[in-house]
Amino acid sequence: MNDGITDYLSQNKQRFEADLFEWLRMASIGTDSAYDDQTRQAAVWLAEKFKNLGLETDLIETCGQPLVYAQTPPVAGGKTVLVYGHYDVQPPDPVELWTTPPFEPTVRNGNVYARGATDDKGQMITHLFGLEAYLADRGVDGSDGSLPVQVKYLIEGEEESGGAGLDAFLKGEYDKDIGMTVAEKLDADIVVISDCSQYAPGKPAITYGLKGIIYFELFVYGPNRDLHSGAFGGTVNNPANALAQMLTQIKDDQGRIQVPGFYDDVVELTEEERGQFGGLGFSDDDFKTQLGVEDLFGEAGFTTLERRWGRPTFDINGMWSGYQGEGAKTVLPAEAGAKFSFRLVPAQDPNKVHEALEKMLAEICPAGIRFELKNHHGAPGFVLPLGSPFMAAASRAIESGFGTAPVFVRSGGSIPVVNQFKHMLGIDTLLLGWGQDDDNLHSPDEKFSLADFHKGIHSSACLWGEIAKMD
Ligand code: BES
Ligand code: MN
Ligand code: MN
Repeated sequence: MNDGITDYLSQNKQRFEADLFEWLRMASIGTDSAYDDQTRQAAVWLAEKFKNLGLETDLIETCGQPLVYAQTPPVAGGKTVLVYGHYDVQPPDPVELWTTPPFEPTVRNGNVYARGATDDKGQMITHLFGLEAYLADRGVDGSDGSLPVQVKYLIEGEEESGGAGLDAFLKGEYDKDIGMTVAEKLDADIVVISDCSQYAPGKPAITYGLKGIIYFELFVYGPNRDLHSGAFGGTVNNPANALAQMLTQIKDDQGRIQVPGFYDDVVELTEEERGQFGGLGFSDDDFKTQLGVEDLFGEAGFTTLERRWGRPTFDINGMWSGYQGEGAKTVLPAEAGAKFSFRLVPAQDPNKVHEALEKMLAEICPAGIRFELKNHHGAPGFVLPLGSPFMAAASRAIESGFGTAPVFVRSGGSIPVVNQFKHMLGIDTLLLGWGQDDDNLHSPDEKFSLADFHKGIHSSACLWGEIAKMD
């Protein structure tokens, strides 16, 4: 990278951090209407930043939280890059487990601790500062600073809660307001997203696969009211027991999911992939220590990385029934419920899983129990072919920013919009994660390494030129 950009990056380090901290102070909990004002404030703040860089910027109103859209001018004969990210954050609960308050960004050991630090404000904004550094280079070293690609930004505020506003936008519901189709507005050669992790500290990565997901809530009903568990126990099926019985039948003790046909469409990991995962030096012992468990558990016949990155899973995300208060209460509850999800791999179809599960639950539902299955959301998994020339370009940008070439990994997380970009707009996505596995995203004490933040900005500043240079 040229010296002008490097100088600009080092001169502006503190200001980049100050700007990020200011943004992190806005509690943009997109899913909670009590925080609508702060969520909007975070969107407006971001839109202002784009405007100040001279980008054509829009705050697009939706049925939910606003979208922030910004673009640089088109470049005749040049490529277009669409950067996607999200300014909404997960609720910070349980707040009492945070070392410092979630919306008071605090630096400890070179990390900034705050909700949204890594997911996704801290990662997303590297692409704004990366562009700023590129543009500021005008004139330094004889470079004219003119951008060799067009960059478009689409930053949403409902990623953590289903993305209804973005969905409606992508389906064209707001076309009238923008004077062209959404496909025209978002037209690009490649999407870039920084909303995942590196392989390890000092080991940057390009993520070439994400899992899909299907998320359910199961309601189980028994007698018409809560009963005395002595007077009535042993005479009717208890919904809490029934729920436990049903859920334990979904996965066996070998970690194999028992929903009929569940594995039919699973694309198996290739020998090459298994070899490549094996070569990353992953340590089960370190992983156990990191998680505070004595043993790992997962689908028999697969390594930990294969399970995390390439095999479908089933996990209960929440359960409730009966008495939750202090002390003991002998109750036979009338209802029970659970939230659970399957992570899917290509080419599993979430709708097929839904149908098969509904049928299985009907068969195993005990006598005297009624159930309802609600499907919250679903999205298929994704893999980008490893040979893509965009990967080679991103690889060079990352090598420049991090001082070492990235490894290629997959991830167990889901970014459903990647499928919409692929299937609705025909555009592939480069996943360039600057986070770390232990950044506590969605947990208390979420953090982001400031060193990684600056390396991410540096890589972003290099990316535009690398993409322009591609054949
Ligand atoms: N940034 C994450 C996705 C992610 C996390 C990718 C870790 C790779 C590694 C994103 O914000 C997220 O939380 N996604 C949800 C999607 C769901 C709500 C549809 C997820 O994966 O649970
Ligand atoms: Mn995210
Ligand atoms: Mn998230």
